[in-house]
Amino acid sequence: MITVSIISQKGGAGKTTLAIHLATAAHDAGIPTVIMDTDPQATASRWGKWRAGRDPDVIDCASHSLLPDKLAALERAGAMFAVIDTPPAADIMAREACRVASLLLIPCRPRAFDLDAVRTTAELAQASGKPAYVLFMAGPPRAVLLYAEAERLIEQIGLKVAPVMLPERAAFHHSVAGGKTAPELEPAGKAADDVAALWAWVSKHDSMLSRHHVIKGLGV
Ligand SMILES: Nc1ncnc2c1ncn2[C@@H]1O[C@H](COP(=O)(O)OP(=O)(O)O)[C@@H](O)[C@H]1O
Ligand SMILES: [Mg+2]
Repeated sequence: MITVSIISQKGGAGKTTLAIHLATAAHDAGIPTVIMDTDPQATASRWGKWRAGRDPDVIDCASHSLLPDKLAALERAGAMFAVIDTPPAADIMAREACRVASLLLIPCRPRAFDLDAVRTTAELAQASGKPAYVLFMAGPPRAVLLYAEAERLIEQIGLKVAPVMLPERAAFHHSVAGGKTAPELEPAGKAADDVAALWAWVSKHDSMLSRHHVIKGLGV
């Protein structure tokens, strides 16, 4: 199973928004996908309930020691792609989410305080040795200089910046309250293009291709 963990010790960074949109894009590509909600605040699980039975499933996992077994059970049940949403803390759950991941995504607003706070998350990601990317969330859709400066800061910290982002768009927060994603709410909207670009990048990332046999024939 391919596992993408979404980590950031900062609350409000966009972890749950990214997890929901990435997992739903994978599901829409025909890949049996689950969201693993390891945050006691259970935001992803609440979204799953509002969704009233539509895929992808959201599974609770409040204990880090249960995470590997739960993932293994989901894989036996047919899941091929898991997205792990994590609490806003660089604690043992975030470490375990790094350990079981094929790829780490670190959502971050392109703002000074947020960029600085990435340091703690960066240490966690680097200690795991897993491929890790900062993915800009909720920034202005077009701001070349701001993103160039933000990228420079991230690279100084020793992390890479994803070539895709989910910029500030009303559809990203309007949609989730109804148990939907932005592309489901506005299929022709700009947020739908952002999510398509996100999936195009993630699905072709080396960490996926090295497991290509797992998802061959499923449209990746
Ligand atoms: N790209 C975006 N555009 C608009 N709003 C966003 C975007 N990303 C996140 N948000 C909003 O920011 C808030 C925090 O996001 P959330 O995903 O809950 O962060 P976290 O899980 O890291 O605490 C939510 O209200 C969410 O709707
Ligand atoms: Mg969250």
